[in-house]
Amino acid sequence: MQITGPTILENARLALPGGVVAGAVALDQGRIVAVGDAPAGRDWLRHDLGGRLVTPAPVDCHTHIVHGGNRAREWEMRLQGASYEQVARAGGGIVSTVAATRGASEDDLLAQALPRVDALIAEGVSCLEIKSGYGLDQDTELRMLRVARRIAQVRPVRVRTSFLGAHAVPKGADADAYIDDVCIPALRAAQAQGLVDAVDGFCEGIAFSVAQIDRVFGVAKSLGLPVKLHAEQLSHLGGTALAARHRALSVDHVEYATDDDARLLAAAGTVAVLLPGAFYAIRETQAPPVAAFRAHGVPMAVATDCNPGSSPLTSILMAMNMACTLFRLTPQEALDGITTHAARALGLADTGRLAPGLRADLCIWNVDSPAELANRIGFNPLHTRIFGGAPC
Ligand code: NIG
Ligand code: FE
Repeated sequence: MQITGPTILENARLALPGGVVAGAVALDQGRIVAVGDAPAGRDWLRHDLGGRLVTPAPVDCHTHIVHGGNRAREWEMRLQGASYEQVARAGGGIVSTVAATRGASEDDLLAQALPRVDALIAEGVSCLEIKSGYGLDQDTELRMLRVARRIAQVRPVRVRTSFLGAHAVPKGADADAYIDDVCIPALRAAQAQGLVDAVDGFCEGIAFSVAQIDRVFGVAKSLGLPVKLHAEQLSHLGGTALAARHRALSVDHVEYATDDDARLLAAAGTVAVLLPGAFYAIRETQAPPVAAFRAHGVPMAVATDCNPGSSPLTSILMAMNMACTLFRLTPQEALDGITTHAARALGLADTGRLAPGLRADLCIWNVDSPAELANRIGFNPLHTRIFGGAPC
């Protein structure tokens, strides 16, 4: 498909938040200029989409896509019966990826990440969030963030970075000393170099306490950076309430969040990011409180959590499928979750919806409905991906 000037994509099914309507979408100069009725009175280039579904391009709002090595061996251990927590406490888990990441150069890390990035782009993803957190020392944390920024220079995709120094306690370190002496100085350095868009943490028994994360969030606030948090993934520790208090962009995982947590999230305007790939891969049995999120009006995003341990997943369509099958989201909720609410989880107001004035980041699919998009497993019905107005 060619888009050389003002263009109308007509005879389409348009995925709007809450439902699909028949109509057209008009694009000009990299922006959406009309949605619904085709505008008249100009020399528009017209493409008949033959009734295909048009959605906002997916946004993958939670990934650890930059990392060294893989954890296939640890997966084999878990297949023999070890739990994710047992593997972590035995020196595997996040800290084993830390060793592989510290040992990789910037070019190595980029080369290892790009095939995963390409898999997401092939499914239409236009924007991805990338976390640090496998360095746990200043050099490696900054190296990961530089690689994340480079991805947006070598591929047609936007990248939002999250500083995740508070991801795990390095082997042999004291958690409090690590936060004060390594994590916070690294955050300040990364921010000074323009490498950080948001600050993340992992609040969990095998990671950091509410008080420790609170210190990191205090520094984020003083630097003018928004926060987000891995919270209530394996147990209920109170991270969600902390994040709501800090008016976080998102809390992620949240399998063990409560009805009270949902109320706090709604009041704070914080997005709940559901990560069904991690739920699946670590054989979690407690699903997030989707009914409470719905009842309180908490926006639910869906993401891959692409990482080598708890979620070795590089398919946003599979994340959608799993959110429906494992968490019983409706396909429409799952689609809103990988578009509108995912953009909001990154604080992005210019993408994630089909609306006039937004960036022309959209996908044309060889399907009729969100259900058809989410239903097949391992099949990619992408017809055309349009990124900032350009098919690519
Ligand atoms: O989002 N929960 C903490 N962090 C990652 C796990 C990363 C890993 O296992 O390497 C997650 O699941
Ligand atoms: Fe994560």
